[in-house]
Amino acid sequence: MSPKPSELATLIAPVADGLKRMRETIAHELREESPAVREMVEHVGRFQGKQLRAALVLLSGEATSNTTDEHASIAAVVEMIHLATLVHDDVLDGAEVRRRVACVNHRWDNQTAVLLGDFLYARAFAVSTDLSSRLCSRVLAEATRRICVGEIEQAAGRYDFDAKQERYEWVAGAKTATLYAAACELGARYPGGRDEMGSRMRQFGWDLGLAFQIIDDCLDLTATQAEIGKSVGTDVEDGKVTLPVLWVYARASEAEKAAIRDAYTRPGLVDRVGELRRVCKLDAGVEYARRRAESLITSAIASVRELPESPARTSLENIAGFVLERSW
Ligand code: IPE
Ligand code: IPE
Ligand code: MG
Ligand code: MG
Repeated sequence: MSPKPSELATLIAPVADGLKRMRETIAHELREESPAVREMVEHVGRFQGKQLRAALVLLSGEATSNTTDEHASIAAVVEMIHLATLVHDDVLDGAEVRRRVACVNHRWDNQTAVLLGDFLYARAFAVSTDLSSRLCSRVLAEATRRICVGEIEQAAGRYDFDAKQERYEWVAGAKTATLYAAACELGARYPGGRDEMGSRMRQFGWDLGLAFQIIDDCLDLTATQAEIGKSVGTDVEDGKVTLPVLWVYARASEAEKAAIRDAYTRPGLVDRVGELRRVCKLDAGVEYARRRAESLITSAIASVRELPESPARTSLENIAGFVLERSW
């Protein structure tokens, strides 16, 4: 059974105080006089999401005995950048629902969502540049660049059914693992030095983040909007050939390949995922992708097992388990 939101709260309990400070910082930093912006900020803040990346900043700090007064602010910067990527990503994907409410592009329009995403990035980097070390700005500017490159490469590779798994993982890594890796690295390394610990935690975050995206791509094919709280089936709708489909396609007969391409592209088709499921063994592809995510999670756990035992280390291990089992 998938962990429930309350169970995730238990997993991240060792950093509950830091997360509270992180939420207060975000609320403070996103205050704006413009009534229009205020309404949008309230809208996106109505449901908070899992706050996993913020928790990872704080837990990576605690698990490596590297806590500072500024860690909660770093967590806030990371979470604001994450939120900005979601607001922009929903424009790119034409999504309608996020965190159980209408996406900004759906409730307002694409132009508004692009601008709100920019507003969030600007606020995030303003908080970051106020910190005593430049490390946070440097790492997150680089992470933001890679996320953009990942999203651009993904758009460039739409409907590429012959793509290799390496290419899929490159894109998934760039757009998602990058921010997980940056969060864990900053937690362990900020304000600077500690290169070895930073690299270890960066690797943990990378493996965890890549597994997170692979599972997300499985859920886009298998979950319902009610379960996961966001639009599903958008990957097929938008021509994103994710790992489960790539795996099935590479093993399909010519006739099956044509039917898979048709499920993605036939004009007017309403239930593309349903059609895909009808014409190929989609579950075998999902199972393969889940095994790949499992092996990444095994590597992630191995990276933190060498840290001294602590409640924070246990939380990191449990979060790795959550990422595999999650249904939201
Ligand atoms: C969604 O991330 C974006 C992906 C990288 C798949 P989350 O599922 O962590 O989003 P929230 O913050 O919990 O809504
Ligand atoms: C995550 O990819 C992209 C981001 C880095 C925001 P998805 O497009 O799969 O994320 P969801 O499914 O919309 O949350
Ligand atoms: Mg999306
Ligand atoms: Mg997705």
